[in-house]
Amino acid sequence: MPRVRSMKVLIIGSGAREHAFAWSAAQSASVEVVYVAPGNGGTARMGGKVQNVALKAVDLEGLLSFAEENRVDLTVVGPEQPLELGLVDRFRSAGKKIIGPTQAAARLESSKVFAKEFMQRQGIPTAGYHVFTDGVSAAQHLLSLPMDAFPQVLKASGLCGGKGVIIALTKEEALRAIIEMFETRIFGDAASEVVIEDFLQGEEASVFALTDGEHYKLFLPAQDHKRIGDGDTGKNTGGMGAYAPAPLVTGEVMRKVEEQILRPTLKGMAEEGNRYTGFLYIGLMINHGEPFVVEYNARLGDPETQVVLPLLKSDFIAALQASVDGCLSEVEFEMYPKSAATVVIASGGYPDHFETGKPVTLQAEISAIDGCQIFHAGTALQDGQLVTAGGRVFSVTAVGGSLQESIETAYRGVETINFEGAYHRTDIGAKAL
Ligand code: AMP
Ligand code: GLY
Repeated sequence: MPRVRSMKVLIIGSGAREHAFAWSAAQSASVEVVYVAPGNGGTARMGGKVQNVALKAVDLEGLLSFAEENRVDLTVVGPEQPLELGLVDRFRSAGKKIIGPTQAAARLESSKVFAKEFMQRQGIPTAGYHVFTDGVSAAQHLLSLPMDAFPQVLKASGLCGGKGVIIALTKEEALRAIIEMFETRIFGDAASEVVIEDFLQGEEASVFALTDGEHYKLFLPAQDHKRIGDGDTGKNTGGMGAYAPAPLVTGEVMRKVEEQILRPTLKGMAEEGNRYTGFLYIGLMINHGEPFVVEYNARLGDPETQVVLPLLKSDFIAALQASVDGCLSEVEFEMYPKSAATVVIASGGYPDHFETGKPVTLQAEISAIDGCQIFHAGTALQDGQLVTAGGRVFSVTAVGGSLQESIETAYRGVETINFEGAYHRTDIGAKAL
């Protein structure tokens, strides 16, 4: 049961995921104040319990001082950078409750080499791989592969904002990518170690868990749309839309994910002295019903959060509180028997160069569109005017009785938002219909 008291919650991050966290937290009866650091134009305009705090997500000491001075009861970390920097360790050693993995456990995301070696040790299904720390050995390895071993996937080991992966269709492309990673250093230090792995066939979906290190609760599985263009064409982005539940993840697939991946991951991390707590994002390739791990993330996804959280019927904050108090197994984590879709509106030019500071008009009718929720990402309030401030600007979510209905409603919501150069994909969720 949620404890009836007046909680102060601090949410760290500035995207649509964090706006969704704030929106959900504000609905919790036990929450009195929701601070968002640094937040965005959307969280700035929420009013009521929600207020922005002008602290960057990577300002560890500033965030801890704020949490102590303002007697924050629970902190929730959105993005990966503060996890990699050790924010959770810092808060815990100061006795502050926080949702997220420690720096060592967050290596499941921050070091692809760590994640691959961990999966190999634990027998967790994933693509076969090799690790290289210099270009010559990597090139020698690629040259030794037969032509039918391609495509091969080359990954910078460190954090790259989702952009450190090159799928090389041929040996020539792979060799060129190695030069770019080790000589031109397009990914900087993130590619001082490079993973070269086999290409997995199949379809992608993601599974999200909240865990106290031993017990876990599952959100609904979701599917992201990583490419900028319709029909999954063009460059990779942070994600241009998502929907949930993903029909690809049947009950049978989910059972295999829990048995072969999720439980061994939590057990293995605990046994190796890196007990994993917080949100765990498992990016999967599903081939003829068999799940393989493409990647782990040490957080919830963006834009996936904007569909999985509105489908959570139970009190989000009560579940988070239970997970830090070690009684996650006792709390309810029930989903609405509905679907959700979210469409991202980006600045023209994203994921390459784009301009910011464009005034945004939001038509009032959005509130009249039942089941539609606008989450802000790259927006800011400048002298009371809402302006664009990033590549992904909005994430428009709708919950509906069917996926079709939620997609249609989300697109009606998209039409109510205008700024110069606004771009969105027109086919979010289409492949699931
Ligand atoms: P990652 O950052 O590891 O999630 O990789 C980004 C994207 O590259 C994934 O979402 C997949 O679409 C693709 N990808 C990564 N690894 C593989 C693989 N081994 N086989 C096929 N596609 C992959
Ligand atoms: N949408 C992919 C991610 O959050 O990493």
